[in-house]
Amino acid sequence: MEPVRFGVISTARIGLEKVIPAMQKSQHCRIEAIASRDLAQAERAAAALGIPKAYGSYAELLADPAIEAVYNPLPNHLHVSLSAEAARAGKHVLCEKPIALDAAEARQLVAVRDQTGVLIAEAFMVRWHPQWLRARELVRSGRIGELRVVQGSFSYHNVDPANVRNQAEIGGGGLYDIGCYPIVTSRFLFGAEPTRVVGTVERDPSFGTDRLATALMEFPTGQALFVCSTQLVPYQRMQIFGTKGRIEVEIPFNAPPDRPCRIFLDDGSQLGDASAEVIELDVVDHYTLQGDAFAEAIRTGQPWPYPLEDAVANMAVIDGLFRSAKEGAWISLTS
Ligand SMILES: NC(=O)c1ccc[n+]([C@@H]2O[C@H](COP(=O)([O-])OP(=O)(O)OC[C@H]3O[C@@H](n4cnc5c(N)ncnc54)[C@H](OP(=O)(O)O)[C@@H]3O)[C@@H](O)[C@H]2O)c1
Repeated sequence: MEPVRFGVISTARIGLEKVIPAMQKSQHCRIEAIASRDLAQAERAAAALGIPKAYGSYAELLADPAIEAVYNPLPNHLHVSLSAEAARAGKHVLCEKPIALDAAEARQLVAVRDQTGVLIAEAFMVRWHPQWLRARELVRSGRIGELRVVQGSFSYHNVDPANVRNQAEIGGGGLYDIGCYPIVTSRFLFGAEPTRVVGTVERDPSFGTDRLATALMEFPTGQALFVCSTQLVPYQRMQIFGTKGRIEVEIPFNAPPDRPCRIFLDDGSQLGDASAEVIELDVVDHYTLQGDAFAEAIRTGQPWPYPLEDAVANMAVIDGLFRSAKEGAWISLTS
């Protein structure tokens, strides 16, 4: 299979530190160009990562006919507009999460996809990691009985006012940045959409971003809940409870690429985890697997398993949680 030629719009840290090196390990992806608002910055990144071309604007990269696909790790408020520009320039787009600032904005991309026919996907790399595929397989096979509850936490501590996460006007805040992961993985495990949600949100008084949020999502066959915070001890863990067993995903989101990930399967027969079986997964880089899958979908025309409608549904949950926190009420997602 001829590798897909990617261009990267911006010198975002996630691209430089994780996604570009991971995609360079993929046989199916070739990082052909990188663009920055500052040419010197793009040139430095290109030199450091061995990327053949550097551009001093995103528009120049989008105009390069050699580029077949764009990876968009811009701040959240630029996900839809730049992904749409890339699509209109005929490029496939792998866009960082969250795909938009709300479901209505995400729907604009659905329309762009339908007009242009390109593949536009939200980069939730966790859905390619074997630990999540295994957890879902265990749930589907009935190993924990009936799935009833998904519960988790995701937090870090960051009070740098210059960080994109602490700038409300460009899509900062915890629910967009990390709350989206317990939401997407709960939906992944239940294989369904929540019917209603309730949440409480505490905002940072100077940044205006949500710095602490607790959410409850009611699914047709169970419930999911999580806490996310941008100003809490760094931690991440997901628990999956069934009527007869429990699965715990040790490092659910920032899965390390250089050592095996572990999940724990427990029938609860002994307390204190004594009955938990440790399942070690192969060492993988989920960003490489995501790049492989994206390139394969482009080359083979096989449907991407998570169409943009899935991204709209994830945004609808975030919208519901913000609305719930504001109104102090349950928000129905069925209408
Ligand atoms: N999937 C994951 O594991 C993961 C992890 C972290 C972050 N992310 C996502 O990736 C995206 C970027 O996050 P990051 O932490 O890597 O961001 P970052 O380092 O701050 O990079 C954002 C880049 O966007 C460009 N930019 C354009 N307009 C900007 C503006 N008004 N303010 C700031 N930057 C602007 C800048 O690049 P130039 O100066 O080169 O133009 C900047 O380097 C976010 O959507 C985030 O949710 C995903």
